[in-house]
Amino acid sequence: MLQERTEPAWIDAFEAVLRRCALQPGDTVAILGETQSRPVLLELARLAAARIGADAFTLTLPSVFTRGEPVTRSTGATPAIQQLGPVIAALQACTLVVDCTVEGLMHAPELPAILQGNGTTQPRIVYVSNEHPEALARLLPDDATEARVKAHVKHLRGAKAMRVTSPAGTDLSISLQGAVAGGNWGSTTRPGTLTHWPGGLVLAFPAAGSVNGTLVLAEGDVNLTFKRYIERAITLTIEHDYVTHIEGGGVDAELLRSYFAAWNEQEAYAVSHVGYGLCDAARWDSMALYDKRDFNGTELRAFAGNFLYSTGANETAGRYTRGHFDWPMRGCTVMLDETVVVDAGKVVA
Ligand SMILES: [Fe+2]
Repeated sequence: MLQERTEPAWIDAFEAVLRRCALQPGDTVAILGETQSRPVLLELARLAAARIGADAFTLTLPSVFTRGEPVTRSTGATPAIQQLGPVIAALQACTLVVDCTVEGLMHAPELPAILQGNGTTQPRIVYVSNEHPEALARLLPDDATEARVKAHVKHLRGAKAMRVTSPAGTDLSISLQGAVAGGNWGSTTRPGTLTHWPGGLVLAFPAAGSVNGTLVLAEGDVNLTFKRYIERAITLTIEHDYVTHIEGGGVDAELLRSYFAAWNEQEAYAVSHVGYGLCDAARWDSMALYDKRDFNGTELRAFAGNFLYSTGANETAGRYTRGHFDWPMRGCTVMLDETVVVDAGKVVA
């Protein structure tokens, strides 16, 4: 088991990320946390900001607990800010926000207001995924990943369609018309933007009615919401974005059906985002090596060549739900229009 305490190597890692976000002496930094944040992450951010000579403060909000709904995981939308005006104003006034909330600000309702700034200052945000620092330190942003992600974002934004196939039987057609596409490489220097660390993936939120076909979660693919490797294949039929049929036996399929049904919302069955991983340092097998509490799974969203399919909220399609699945899949071939970008699980250079 890994201990959660400050280690010089982990302060070095945080310092490297803050420097890559162009943090300068005298800049104002908010270290944003909540009562359920991993304390060591707040501490490492504070020590790293101090090394650089930035003026940092830590803001710890009460975590929000909702009764009467299923356990939520990996929504990417922290509810901790609760539209509190003074909190939004404090974050708007910073050069950099180090987001150590459990779920992150990616899809928080307050994000657009924060990124807009206050007219004088416009912050940038780095979300530190809720991982054990040992994993974060292995997955530092680097020039090669940044360049690769930027190239693939450009390609993705220019494409009209994505097609995904696999030897297990996946055959998906995805229209990218009207999709919102982007990517993350783990650092940002541009005011008004957010990144997450670890980074190294591209994704698109398709417009409504864009996804049709068959998705086969094969042995060794991952259900990140449960933090489990799939052991028995599950075949999903997808019609106009929605999972309409789930075929397969065993615990994996039963858990999937049960959690989908727990939301009692049609939107939970619809596509959230589609994309693929581009980070060479990230590893498919890493989940086997961590306790669940030490692991938030961004490494598996990012490992090079995985096709990542997600169900749940999709603002582009006008759908909102807190039920969310992320399924990193191996061995898929991904085509953007006529170009193969991932060939049987390997990123094409
Ligand atoms: Fe997701």
